[in-house]
Amino acid sequence: MKSNQPIGIFDSGIGGLTVARAVKKVLPNESLIYFGDTAHLPYGDKSTAAIQAYSVRIAEMLLKQRCKVILIACNSASSAAYDLVTEYVGKRAKVFDVINPTIDYIRENHNDDKIGLIGTKQTVSAGVYGRKIEELKQNITFTSLATPLLVPMIEEGIYNDQISHDIIKKYLNDPALVGIKSLILGCTHYPIIKTEIKAYYQEHNAHVEIIDSAETVAQALKSFLEYHQLVNKDQSPSYQFLVSDFTEAFEHTTKTFFGKEVHLEKIPIWDELG
Ligand code: DGL
Repeated sequence: MKSNQPIGIFDSGIGGLTVARAVKKVLPNESLIYFGDTAHLPYGDKSTAAIQAYSVRIAEMLLKQRCKVILIACNSASSAAYDLVTEYVGKRAKVFDVINPTIDYIRENHNDDKIGLIGTKQTVSAGVYGRKIEELKQNITFTSLATPLLVPMIEEGIYNDQISHDIIKKYLNDPALVGIKSLILGCTHYPIIKTEIKAYYQEHNAHVEIIDSAETVAQALKSFLEYHQLVNKDQSPSYQFLVSDFTEAFEHTTKTFFGKEVHLEKIPIWDELG
């Protein structure tokens, strides 16, 4: 691995751009290759086997682009395919997901707490967060809730308004989340509504820490690159944004997630599979 190789980041679509944005913020010299599997969006409703097959194929494509790191910027794919992708990639690159850095953060900062998680149906039913928190043996009570309306809501640009306020309130009022001290945003779309989630808890005078997996993974990646002297010294990083299916709506929505609109390039990753 060499420091000037790019970092590959992938997600089911463009939600993982929140992770790319967090990475760019803490590692401004890194070149990024982002891939959104928009042809298969959403992963949240797909089977584990399907997500595994997509993820391995995407990892292969990112390896061909000489990525030193492959970052799975999707909780659904992290739940379903992290172990498989790590095994497949082997020593060719370092693989990160968005779950393990969050678990490490919890290990270091939480004990005797009640921690909640919101995420897609896939992430909640896979139960990976719950199992890993249990393995910490830290007397943490873990509870999770699938919140499937939030991804389409955010993608439709419905946030910071009355409708999103009501939907968020309905979910956060759920008995499953009563009495939590921290809430994991278990979906890479959710940083977009972090302010609204914080506002809900402020309105209810509840002190709930919001754990943003985009930030925890960006910090973990930074520590890894620094430790292994793999931080890029080059001052002119390049950015490439690839998708497996293109519509103008996707391109337009990139602004929500990345902070500015980016040019999406369609690559025929699935064509050769027939
Ligand atoms: N960004 C995905 C995640 O973090 C959710 C979108 C999807 O369902 O594909 O789980």
